[in-house]
Amino acid sequence: MDQPTQTEVWKAQTLDELIEILHQLFSVDKVNVAEVQGVMESYESHPEEWTQFAQFDQFRYTRNLVDKGNEKFNLMILCWGEGHGSIHDHMDSHCFMKILQGNLKETLFEWPDKKGGGEMVKKSERVLKENQCAYISDCIGLHRVENPSHTETAVSLHLYSPPFETCHAFDQRTGHKQKVKMTFYSQFGERTPYGALVSQENN
Ligand SMILES: [Fe+2]
Repeated sequence: MDQPTQTEVWKAQTLDELIEILHQLFSVDKVNVAEVQGVMESYESHPEEWTQFAQFDQFRYTRNLVDKGNEKFNLMILCWGEGHGSIHDHMDSHCFMKILQGNLKETLFEWPDKKGGGEMVKKSERVLKENQCAYISDCIGLHRVENPSHTETAVSLHLYSPPFETCHAFDQRTGHKQKVKMTFYSQFGERTPYGALVSQENN
């Protein structure tokens, strides 16, 4: 891994190399969104490098912790069964989402009117394909992420900075939100003990 000059961009050949570069990029206080997005996109997904973290649940998508980013960020792998998804905010954190396998549909929504009531307003939607990396923050809006396939699973790599443990899930028909505590289905490849799994919501 070489240090890039001003005109070069970071490229990660392996997941370990990507993690090493992310630690460097987050060692300073200011986050360069384009730089982080670029290096996450540069990593070409190799399942043998991340399969140990990709633990699925039959009923909902799972969050699997990969790296704690020196407390500056959390890096995790989300495993999506057919049709799994949610609408949620990001607690003023940066959120990067890279597809490792399959496709994920991302639908952007306006923040619901504080006065409440009514269907949430869609801004745009797109399908993210393998190796693409999306970015969102509360400044951009809310999103629904879902695996649109009825036959294929999907796997994605998410980076949140700073890390957060609760967020809000939204009801698309009413705009009402609900605070959700998030837990990890597994950490560093080991299944989280059952007692620690009070709820299993995602971001
Ligand atoms: Fe998200």
